[in-house]
Amino acid sequence: MTNPDMQKAQDGRVLIFDTTLRDGEQSPGATMSHREKLEIAEMLDEMGVDIIEAGFPIASEGDFAAVKAIAEQTRSATICGLSRANFKDIDRAWEAVKPARSPRIHTFIGTSPLHRAIPNLTMDEMAQRIHDTVTHARNLTDNVQWSPMDATRTEWDFLRRTVEIAIKAGATTINIPDTVGYTAPVESADLIRRLIAEVEGAEDVIFATHCHNDLGMATANSLAAVEGGARQVECTINGLGERAGNTALEEIVMALKVRHDILPYDTGVDSRKIMAISRRVATVSGFPVQFNKAIVGKNAFAHESGIHQDGMLKNAETFEIMRPEDVGLSGTSLPMGKHSGRAALRAKLKELGFDVADNQLNDIFVRFKDLADRKKEVFDEDIEALVRAQGAAEQNIRLKFMRVICGTEAPQSADVILTIDGADHQVTAQGDGPVDAAFNAIKKLVPHNARLQLYQVHAVTEGTDAQATVTVRMEEDGRIVTGQSADTDTVVASARAYITALNRLLVKRALTGAGTDTKSVSYKDAG
Ligand code: KIV
Ligand code: ZN
Repeated sequence: MTNPDMQKAQDGRVLIFDTTLRDGEQSPGATMSHREKLEIAEMLDEMGVDIIEAGFPIASEGDFAAVKAIAEQTRSATICGLSRANFKDIDRAWEAVKPARSPRIHTFIGTSPLHRAIPNLTMDEMAQRIHDTVTHARNLTDNVQWSPMDATRTEWDFLRRTVEIAIKAGATTINIPDTVGYTAPVESADLIRRLIAEVEGAEDVIFATHCHNDLGMATANSLAAVEGGARQVECTINGLGERAGNTALEEIVMALKVRHDILPYDTGVDSRKIMAISRRVATVSGFPVQFNKAIVGKNAFAHESGIHQDGMLKNAETFEIMRPEDVGLSGTSLPMGKHSGRAALRAKLKELGFDVADNQLNDIFVRFKDLADRKKEVFDEDIEALVRAQGAAEQNIRLKFMRVICGTEAPQSADVILTIDGADHQVTAQGDGPVDAAFNAIKKLVPHNARLQLYQVHAVTEGTDAQATVTVRMEEDGRIVTGQSADTDTVVASARAYITALNRLLVKRALTGAGTDTKSVSYKDAG
């Protein structure tokens, strides 16, 4: 047998293909830095993910460099790079993944009528393009994945024909994407079952499922595809991804574990690493996890009502179908307070999934002490919020001082000092409320045309001394950036989040000329 993935599948494994760093990173505003991508890839590798889609190498120099570095550093997982259906993309993807111990090229083309209209190809022309590009990729490596984008809205005859061509040309994995989250579980299972039954050569390849969550059915559709015979599930941490996101890795892993009675397949993923990577991805992507998200939400293992609490105390299984420890939540959490030292903080950070360098630890420690002086109890969520805000120290624009006048008498005003490139600048501005006044003051010192797309506040823990986490998302000429900060003072957290977003915008302005940003690469197949 030439394909080791086939062996795993025959041994009852469902391969986990994580695309957090490619499809997940495509969410508007979720851009991660080079260092953060390497860190997430290492966590994915350590938790036992089979294939990591590390990026879209043709999209930008940054994407190429990240995929290549991930290929060089990864010890176990296969490293995959995405490419459109043209030789230039495929060659670039190969350049990036080739240092990997196990490299894979993933090439795709939109096969549905709507997607065929974009490059304006007839069915025959597209069939020829698929043959040529998959053959080209297969001449570079024996691990080639092919995807008919928008497969679930492609005419059956054409889908069957294109899959057959890709297999004949040498594809080893056929991925069936539900690109717009349109399918439903029964249909998802049937489609894979039918492809396996009717496509010539189907027995020699792995079928994969790649579902988006537009109708909230991504995970159900992926599991149904597994029932239909798919042996690779494509997913992202926290379900990160375009629009409503993708199938969530943690949901697939835990569903296969908890319902092994009806879905008798294993994954190679160590579920106890789920919580740590979920928190890390939330931090670096700037996309907080919703409180009631399955498996990884703050409330997933919280029991509020008296009846539930009573049941839990008598037997945890009354209201829990999995143990918190199974996903890496430790029952014995170290309490943290103003007497905790650096070593305890480092241990706590490690438990929460943060492996910080010494200089970062020093900075977080100073702010931890400051918070512990102001707050009775410092919870895990407070510490996560501190790490999230940690990048502020490295920024060009920093908040040095702020005093806000607010109350029942308008107008509210903010007196602000910003340190910009080392020099202090002071300004006073008014606004409709203290946050508006603070933002107006910052904008006076750092003029820009970015539009505020999102301003969101949530309390990290309970109590009036709780820290507020503020998320700000802004858009300027198609560049979307997010900033996040936490403080016991909501207005201070808001100003810092706004400043973080502005710093990121400045970096993006400098780095992204036209056509160099991942999100500006179109899926048009011309090349
Ligand atoms: O959703 C999709 O169709 C994709 C393809 C590029 C596989 O992400
Ligand atoms: Zn996708």
